[in-house]
Amino acid sequence: MESPDFNQIIDRHNTGSVKWDFLDRYLHLNETDLLPMWVSDFDFQCPKEVLQALSSRIDHGIFGYSERDDLYYQAAMDWFSRRHKLTLHRDWFTSIEGVIPGLALLIQMLSKPGEGVIVQGPYYSSFAKIITMNSRAVIENPLLESSEGYKIDYDHLERILEQHRPPLLLLCNPHNPTGRCWDRDELLQLLILCKRYGTTVISDEIWADLILPWGKFTSILHLGSEWHSHVITATSASKTFGLASLRIANFIIPDPTLRQAFNDRLNAHGLDVFNSLSMTAATAAYQYGDTWLDKLQDYLAENRDWFEQALASSVPWCRMTKAEGTYLAWLDCRNLGLDDNTLQQLLIQKAKIAVSMGYSFGDRGKGFIRINLGCPRQYLKEAISGLAQLTT
Ligand SMILES: Cc1ncc(COP(=O)(O)O)c(C=O)c1O
Repeated sequence: MESPDFNQIIDRHNTGSVKWDFLDRYLHLNETDLLPMWVSDFDFQCPKEVLQALSSRIDHGIFGYSERDDLYYQAAMDWFSRRHKLTLHRDWFTSIEGVIPGLALLIQMLSKPGEGVIVQGPYYSSFAKIITMNSRAVIENPLLESSEGYKIDYDHLERILEQHRPPLLLLCNPHNPTGRCWDRDELLQLLILCKRYGTTVISDEIWADLILPWGKFTSILHLGSEWHSHVITATSASKTFGLASLRIANFIIPDPTLRQAFNDRLNAHGLDVFNSLSMTAATAAYQYGDTWLDKLQDYLAENRDWFEQALASSVPWCRMTKAEGTYLAWLDCRNLGLDDNTLQQLLIQKAKIAVSMGYSFGDRGKGFIRINLGCPRQYLKEAISGLAQLTT
């Protein structure tokens, strides 16, 4: 199989791409000359093996109702065992079209309207959306900024657990937007506190496969079976292999009662039928995607190094947060002393890039922007030239 060329620029316009075609609808931006560096999907073709598997499935030509088959689950279990040294049981898996819909169902299942769900700010904006739109409250445990990256504030966490007794904590690991990978000790401390107050931890591990060479991913499931009654994990091949629009995710729920309740919810919403193409793509990705992913991770690490150095030399007011995973750059723009609206206007008018504004990640994101580094290097060069123009 030929080597992937991540430098290749592929025009994504007019493909229904949220990132490229819908800036007006999602960001209310009508400018047509902006480089989109916002949504978390990358601008690379998925592995050739995946394209070939999809192509043969399409040639078959019949797309009736389908179910996830044993081949899919076996490929997923082998992947977690190979890549993460994690032994998962077939029974623990439940499949649904996306992580966000699954999280929303779990919020409905495990909390009551008016109750709170803890998130660690800055937090992924869809977390806040599914919490508030399901009539629950966001309880923020703000992360602490430090020179080694963001840290969990356990004192504050304990205070809010004690005060609100929330049924759920929604963890993001690796963390969007900061790129932190929580280590074993950090996870353990969090689990001990949550268990003490009867709070279930849902760990969104959608970014688990995109780890930088100096980072290490630890799943909440690595901590052992004694925590199983209190944890649920969400994963997907979608972020790893760029399959987001095909819609596929796994919810790994070791506790049989929680799992049965989740499956009942899926049935109650008619969510127990699946897209056959997503299964074909994800199975091939899990079976044959290792080499491609290793190369992607190298490219993303080079992208990050390149971007950090270019920022340091051409955009000195901007500070990049130390990350261990994801392809997201969480950039501190507070040195400019601008309010977020002015910053956004300058990014549009002078830098000509569409970014995710930090304030959409809650109060902790004010003065920050999130840039997607999952793109050909040429786009990073354009982004740096744009950012360098901001203060001229
Ligand atoms: C932490 C996190 N969870 C979930 C999602 C989206 O998952 P899905 O498309 O499967 O609903 C994203 C996408 O960026 C994400 O960053």
